[in-house]
Amino acid sequence: MSFNNIPLHITTNSAEQTQEFGQNLAARLLPGDVICLWGDLGSGKTTLAQGICRGLQSKETAVSPTFGLIHEYQGLCDIYHLDLYRLDNSAQAEEIGITDYLYGRGISIMEWPERIRDILPDDRLDIHLTRLDQQTRKIEIKTSGNNWNDRFNN
Ligand SMILES: Nc1ncnc2c1ncn2[C@@H]1O[C@H](COP(=O)(O)OP(=O)(O)OP(=O)(O)O)[C@@H](O)[C@H]1O
Ligand SMILES: [Mg+2]
Repeated sequence: MSFNNIPLHITTNSAEQTQEFGQNLAARLLPGDVICLWGDLGSGKTTLAQGICRGLQSKETAVSPTFGLIHEYQGLCDIYHLDLYRLDNSAQAEEIGITDYLYGRGISIMEWPERIRDILPDDRLDIHLTRLDQQTRKIEIKTSGNNWNDRFNN
């Protein structure tokens, strides 16, 4: 996987490979980007977020939050790791200031974006993760909006 050729579909065979993919992806990201990680429990969203954090040279890495929906890290730019699993709806998300993050100057990496489907930014990177078996994950990237054309046209 090279910087110049990010595949838009990939199958990984280990958590480490998923992290490597995230690390390579990070080289394509810019401050203000919103990355939505879609997928079931255990599909690898946090694992991929860890790789992105590593690629953005964050000293801290994404964790599965046991408390707190939002974790901020500092790397090449500010990184916001949002895990919305425990939210019921987007009104609740707005109450805790989610939109300040989504339209902020850092890179937002969001798990469980379906919780705020009605307020997701039009400009975003959607990454779908599917568990194929214990060690195998299908990862698919889809860009929405104009912000990505130069960055993801291989
Ligand atoms: N190819 C793979 N890619 C990613 N994770 C993998 C892979 N193979 C095995 N795993 C394992 O699957 C688990 C993925 O957990 P992770 O916390 O990343 O999932 P998640 O999607 O964030 O779940 P949740 O919805 O609970 O937050 C980890 O235990 C990881 O080691
Ligand atoms: Mg997670």
